[in-house]
Amino acid sequence: MLNGKRILLGVTGSIAAYKAVELTRELVKRGAEVQVVMTQAAIRFVTPLTFETLSRQPVLLDMFTLAYGSQIGHIEATARADLFVVAPATAHTIARLAHGLADDFLSNIYLASRCPVLVAPAMDSDMYQHAVVQENLARLRERGVHIVGPASGELASGLIGPGRLVEPEEILEAIERLLEPSGDLAGEVVLVTAGPTREPLDPVRYLSNRSSGKMGYAIAEAAGQRGGRVILISGPTALFAPREAEVIRVETAQEMHDAVLAKLDAATVVIKAAAVADYRPKRAATRKLKKDETVPEVTLESTPDILAEVGRRKGRRILVGFAAETEDLVVNARKKLQRKNLDLMVANDISQPGAGFDADTNVVKILDAQGGVEELPLQAKRSVADRILDRVVELLKRRD
Ligand code: CTP
Repeated sequence: MLNGKRILLGVTGSIAAYKAVELTRELVKRGAEVQVVMTQAAIRFVTPLTFETLSRQPVLLDMFTLAYGSQIGHIEATARADLFVVAPATAHTIARLAHGLADDFLSNIYLASRCPVLVAPAMDSDMYQHAVVQENLARLRERGVHIVGPASGELASGLIGPGRLVEPEEILEAIERLLEPSGDLAGEVVLVTAGPTREPLDPVRYLSNRSSGKMGYAIAEAAGQRGGRVILISGPTALFAPREAEVIRVETAQEMHDAVLAKLDAATVVIKAAAVADYRPKRAATRKLKKDETVPEVTLESTPDILAEVGRRKGRRILVGFAAETEDLVVNARKKLQRKNLDLMVANDISQPGAGFDADTNVVKILDAQGGVEELPLQAKRSVADRILDRVVELLKRRD
């Protein structure tokens, strides 16, 4: 089950660190490739040598030595991982992760991670129950971090209560659950568009918009993890594409249009999260426009509406669109849903804090073709992605 899976295991300074030794042994036994990263406090409880012997890999300890002295920087370490597990996670490390501190290797890895993250807290029960620890855990959960435990029982302090690191067996089960795609999109081909488009004015200038691509990439990642085959057609973004996705990079609305139509036959679900430019310069200059020439007048023309085109050729596909609005959100989104022949419309009030372009979170409403409106609270784009896919899965089941 864990064969070939790459697991980054973060070990922090808790008396329960010895259980991470057992966890490493079990992971390796099940075929996983384990890369351990330890905090300075952790090495006071268990020696790196123990982990190195079991994992057969050098333990990541010192950000500076490793970042410069070898090939393994924190970025490389995370880029290769399928899952980042922090077990045991002390109150201190939970706080560092919740607040985005980057003061050692482990916390840098967390910030750079694109894979799912699983945290197994371990601390004294009074500490665990402190409001600030609870707040930090809630904050992590809100951002899509998975938490396992703690268990209740006798603690190192002699107290009895919640705070014990769960047993390695339970952490293994949580790992397997996260790595085994839930499979509810198995057999489906999910075509996702993401990012902005660029419409050239001349060889160096273009018209574009503020889309970062984060929402679309989150959907592509979630769809892959749920067993779907993913085709990601992306405008220019600074994001890493999910490892398993087939990625087609485009620049203009026309290129995105052509790529979508070329792949449409294969797709059973189409999710159009891209912010496609509605207009483009009618003529792009073939040479750079110069300042000493007359101020250019730019005439715009419409780009093809990709989603409307896909709506006309919909067949049995499930079609999901996005609407970014600054006013009359639901009314405008519903009009688009009908006009473009969609099953679902994800409506995004980009004037709200925590929503829209370039944020890591989003606040959306999901409209369906039957007139329903589901309002989702502010949450990480990655969890919004899963909520959208839950609705897609429901529609797929109903369609069959
Ligand atoms: N879209 C598209 N092709 C375009 C423009 C938009 O496929 N040329 C898609 C987007 O990917 C999105 C949806 O249409 O899923 C809605 O985009 P939006 O710009 O909000 O809607 P428009 O129909 O362009 O309406 P308006 O700009 O007037 O709000």
